[in-house]
Amino acid sequence: MKSLFLTAGALALGLMASFGAAAAGGGHVPFSYAPDPANTASLQRGARNFTAYCAACHSMSLLRYSRIGEDLDIPEEMLKANLMFNTDSTGDTMHAASAPGAANWFGQKPPDLSLTARARTPSWVYSYLMSFYVDDSRPLGANNTVLAGASMPHVLWELQGWQVKPEKAEGDDAAHEDDHGGGHGSGHGDASPNGLELATEGQLTPKEFQAFVGDIVNFMAYAAEPGRVERQQLGVKVMLFLLVFTFLAYLLKKEYWRDVH
Ligand code: HEC
Repeated sequence: MKSLFLTAGALALGLMASFGAAAAGGGHVPFSYAPDPANTASLQRGARNFTAYCAACHSMSLLRYSRIGEDLDIPEEMLKANLMFNTDSTGDTMHAASAPGAANWFGQKPPDLSLTARARTPSWVYSYLMSFYVDDSRPLGANNTVLAGASMPHVLWELQGWQVKPEKAEGDDAAHEDDHGGGHGSGHGDASPNGLELATEGQLTPKEFQAFVGDIVNFMAYAAEPGRVERQQLGVKVMLFLLVFTFLAYLLKKEYWRDVH
């Protein structure tokens, strides 16, 4: 029995260590994003935006349309009209529209995104989507500060506009100024935490774009664990039950032992 506990303890420690390592090993993550699984409106927008901008290349092979409908309060007709472009069956999972050819086009097959928000963390995915920039040396004209050399095009460029990396020389100058104590990183008011600057504006303001990306990441976090809200609600009920039950057990114990003392 004792060795069983020891093994379980060692296993738990090992798991914690490996989670820590995975979180730390993700490279530079300039933004943080906390998903809100209870915000159904955001999840609905995220599902719609994911379908419109991502599902051409990316599948979510672990998520069925029927489950999305149930969880996000989307009636079947709306599911079919807004989310399901390549199937009629709500029992289907979200598969990518362009899967076969995509492998050759982008040098890398667009990965399935069912579990990405958990494997990479929501902050990573949010940062990745915020961090495409113009890079003429890349085949698709874009690069990414979070995933250098990414073979995914900047699919949201019309909404965000184009970001650029500030010129090397300028960067050096700024660092130089900082050396001399000038340091407010001034001069470029709109440099974002990933070090990029917006060179051409998109259809959305930076605030609107952040919200847009946030909704997509919220949806991806939901997709990675559709049962999360339910699990948390059940957890609260279980804790309440245990509290009440402990109190009752205590009263009972007092009752039983009253005559003994
Ligand atoms: C034109 C096809 C295409 C579209 C559209 C597209 N992607 Fe990608 N995506 C890719 C490819 C290819 C990769 C692989 C990049 C690499 O590893 O170099 C990728 C990688 C990713 C990754 C990184 C996965 C990982 O763990 O490395 C995420 C996250 C992602 N895409 C999210 C999205 C989201 C969200 C959208 C919609 C806003 C989207 N993608 C639209 C092609 C696409």
